[in-house]
Amino acid sequence: MAAAQDAHHASQATQTFDPPPAVAAAAHVPSFEAYQRLHRRSLDDPEGFWREVSDQFVWFKPWTTLQEWNPPFAKWFVDGETNISVNCLDRHVEAGRGDRVAYYWEGEPGDTRTITYADLLADVQQFANALKAQGLRAGDRVVLYMPMVPELPAAMLACARLGVVHSVVFGGFSSDAIRDRVNDAGARLIVTADGGWRRGRVIPLKANVDGALANGACPSVERVIVLRRCGNPIDWDAARDVWWDDAVAGQPANCPPAHLPAEHPLYILYTSGTTGKPKGVVHATAGYMVYTAYTSKLIFDLRGDDVYWCTADIGWVTGHSYIVYGILANGVTGVMYEGAPNHPAEDRFWAIVEKYKVTVFYTAPTAIRTFVRWGDHHPQGRDLSSLRLLGTVGEPINPDAWLWYHRVIGQGRCPIVDTWWQTETGGILITPLPGATTLKPGSATLPFPGVEPQVVGEDGQPMPDGQRGLLVIERPWPSTLRGIYTEGWGQPGHPGEFGDRERFVETYWEKFPGRYLTGDGAVRDADGYFWVIGRVDDTLSVAGHRIGTAEVESALVSHPAVAESAVVGAPDPIAGESIAAFVTLRGGIEGTDELQAELTQHVGQTLGRFARPKLLRFTDALPKTRSGKIMRRLLRDVAAGREVAGDTTTLEDLSVLAALRGDEE
Ligand code: PRX
Repeated sequence: MAAAQDAHHASQATQTFDPPPAVAAAAHVPSFEAYQRLHRRSLDDPEGFWREVSDQFVWFKPWTTLQEWNPPFAKWFVDGETNISVNCLDRHVEAGRGDRVAYYWEGEPGDTRTITYADLLADVQQFANALKAQGLRAGDRVVLYMPMVPELPAAMLACARLGVVHSVVFGGFSSDAIRDRVNDAGARLIVTADGGWRRGRVIPLKANVDGALANGACPSVERVIVLRRCGNPIDWDAARDVWWDDAVAGQPANCPPAHLPAEHPLYILYTSGTTGKPKGVVHATAGYMVYTAYTSKLIFDLRGDDVYWCTADIGWVTGHSYIVYGILANGVTGVMYEGAPNHPAEDRFWAIVEKYKVTVFYTAPTAIRTFVRWGDHHPQGRDLSSLRLLGTVGEPINPDAWLWYHRVIGQGRCPIVDTWWQTETGGILITPLPGATTLKPGSATLPFPGVEPQVVGEDGQPMPDGQRGLLVIERPWPSTLRGIYTEGWGQPGHPGEFGDRERFVETYWEKFPGRYLTGDGAVRDADGYFWVIGRVDDTLSVAGHRIGTAEVESALVSHPAVAESAVVGAPDPIAGESIAAFVTLRGGIEGTDELQAELTQHVGQTLGRFARPKLLRFTDALPKTRSGKIMRRLLRDVAAGREVAGDTTTLEDLSVLAALRGDEE
């Protein structure tokens, strides 16, 4: 991992950036001492600490028990009752801020909309009534497979209003991936659109849903609601499909919120793991609400007049927490965009910053590296003087990219918050606070209040400063994942509570009981700063998207020509990592260029275009240890074009290595 190695080297770097005095003076947390006090109190007096934070929300029933922690099963704000849609919308409208813009939406091709908090609240209630009219009740699951349009957050909040559990599936996923997720969640209803725009082309969302549902493959689905977005021709199943407009027609714009127990599941979001089957990560209502709102406020240092823009897609957790829930809970104005950063031109992002006078900008290192390549003249041709704070997420940021971001986009004036977290953590766990933390480029710096990370060795003992180990979190935080979804969760009586316990325990808790295993490697330096190096399990971070090597492998072996495959990450200057696949073919089949293209295409169809291998190489056999384990380290070296070194005596067949190296040269 190029970026990861950079990050590690940088842990010895000395260049640091103090919070600019003007930033600190105005910040919610205005000094390092204030941060230290806050962090200490959060660990010493969690009851008092979270009482103060959570008192700012609307509770139908206040909580009296902060936490139940029966490792590894956590509950937060245990006996409270609330509704996240009320805290994101009604609360602001009732306080007289209904006219404030919730989202500036910038679509393709040139479409724009401005939606106030009052508008969004009305849309949410109307759509919630439409869902009710379809017979949906609290605990039912709905899959949202939608473009980046304001109806997506509206649909999420409408589900939340009723206690219906949403599962957003990223619009880049294929029919097969939709089918797996719909079936795992047992969704009764899907919300989609005829299409979505990307670089002037229509992504056929409805056709992909049709493909997933074909031949009765998703028996739980009763209804598909279709938003008209692109006007592209689509097939129609009159018994199953209904237009969004028809579904909401005549529905009142008033829908009382469900009074939900704190632990009621809010959503399921599927993420890649080390096996081929994606995990349905479950987040619970109150803990997620409090934590995403509080992290948004302190880390992005939000105030009423901010215009905040996170460039992620809502199909990933970043969009859930920091485009929708955490941001709306703070009542600030967000920007949402549809399409791509280079359409209609490579300065699209900077044109949007200029147009809406964006103050806080949050994106991924892979995007920053792309902007570096496209050239400084794009941002320099736009007025970026409104920006006051920058953020990154999704993968380690190499110091060069960090420094470019700071100099060219932030014009030396804006702190950068490098935020480390995961789908499972729900919110940001390791991060600078802009008015408090001295920045070191490439380090996510220090834990957020309530969070106690540790770098440990295989034996669970803390690693000495400066040495690599496994990143673990010592205690639960409010938005800890509650489990991996299985049937029955959220139904009255909660028969499925905590879901697939076995997989949950095995994946996150078994190695170090009572501590959450992140799956990332990290170093802590002498100042206590955390440098996250990257995944230590078999998942890849490709352009900030987490992809399991096992998923790509099973997509490959589902092709009739393939006997066996091994997938590893290769360093990539833009995406951080790219996918490299080694494939053996069934007897007699020849590894032609056409077959190579066909297999790449096949992975795209099975998982989604973003999961296609960049390198696909045929080989007679895969290098394996005597016990039959694929030697991934060796394949990673080959994929990276590195000299294959190390102890080869464990190789089952040295000729395999020789053949691969011959290929390489
Ligand atoms: O490896 C870490 C990396 O992204 C992983 C989580 O991926 P996902 O669940 O898809 O969520 C991404 C957005 C929150 C982590 O295990 N990662 C995320 N943020 C950072 C990071 N690595 C280094 N620095 C970060 N700031």
